[in-house]
Amino acid sequence: MLEQIAEIKNLFNKSLQEIKTLPDLETEKIRFLGRKGLIATLFETLGDVPQDSRPVIGQQINALKKEIEIHFSELKNKLNLLTAGLQSVDITLPGRALPVGKRHPLHQVADQIKAIFSSMGFEIADGPEVETDYYNFEALNMPRTHPARDMQDTLYISDNLVLRTHTSPVQIRVMESRKPPIRIIAPGRVFRRDTPDASHSPFFHQSEGLVVGEDVTFADLKGVIESFAAQMLGREIKVRFRPSFFPFTEPSVEYDFNCVFCKGKGCRVCKNTGWLEISGAGMVHPNVLKNVGYDPGKISGYAFGMGIDRLAMLKFNINDIRILFENDLRFINQF
Ligand code: DAH
Repeated sequence: MLEQIAEIKNLFNKSLQEIKTLPDLETEKIRFLGRKGLIATLFETLGDVPQDSRPVIGQQINALKKEIEIHFSELKNKLNLLTAGLQSVDITLPGRALPVGKRHPLHQVADQIKAIFSSMGFEIADGPEVETDYYNFEALNMPRTHPARDMQDTLYISDNLVLRTHTSPVQIRVMESRKPPIRIIAPGRVFRRDTPDASHSPFFHQSEGLVVGEDVTFADLKGVIESFAAQMLGREIKVRFRPSFFPFTEPSVEYDFNCVFCKGKGCRVCKNTGWLEISGAGMVHPNVLKNVGYDPGKISGYAFGMGIDRLAMLKFNINDIRILFENDLRFINQF
């Protein structure tokens, strides 16, 4: 009898290893614990056991029965969990795409400007957004009483401190801190006292350009701007230079690109002129060179401005500058 009990215990251990599914488990449960199962048969044969050892053997069969019941119920829980888990994952569903961030269209354009000028040998320079009167105006040949200060609606922090109205002060900082030859662009944010509308914002972005050295000429300036236009907007884009005035350059020009929308034919955006104004440029004024300690007799240079927001608007066909700064994802995600 004891041997039979041990045998069934062995069978049960083997069976535990082999059960993989809930139906397997049901079958095995019936084999061991069913009304005609192995345990029931053991109890039946108990009658053949001598009276005095019956209680001990009976206890052993009961213990085995308990053990089998506990193991089966644990296994049932485990198998239930497994199948529930599998059912809640529909492996035929397509995966969920993780949202990936993007560069803001302004940064994309700024990156492109930097890449184009880097490829032409320019370094990237930087300057503070809070600027002194000296760097923003005075050193750029605009003394306190100069009427040209009115061209820029300045936001003053104090008598002597302003939010820079242009990136031109970076020219002065760079020239003060090193000797020619110099070839830099200085992209960054600038500020003006403007009421926001489709083409005005109290802050916007420019990039300054500056090249100084020996024998730097106006022809070099034209070549660089033309090469930039072709790389930024395409070879079919032409550049036009018009005489103009800036206190820090002499001679000064304003430069236009062919309208990117009508390719110069004339349309609503360019007011039928075929041209879009980009910014100003010119040969660095001798007074500016003197202000940074250079000898205007030996050193010459050209400088140019560039509106980054304006270029982004042209490139991406955006008709309201304010939308660039609203950080509306429905807008930003289009680029
Ligand atoms: N600083 C000028 C502005 O904000 C743009 C500009 C004009 C920059 C002529 C230049 C330049 O370097 O030579 O409107």
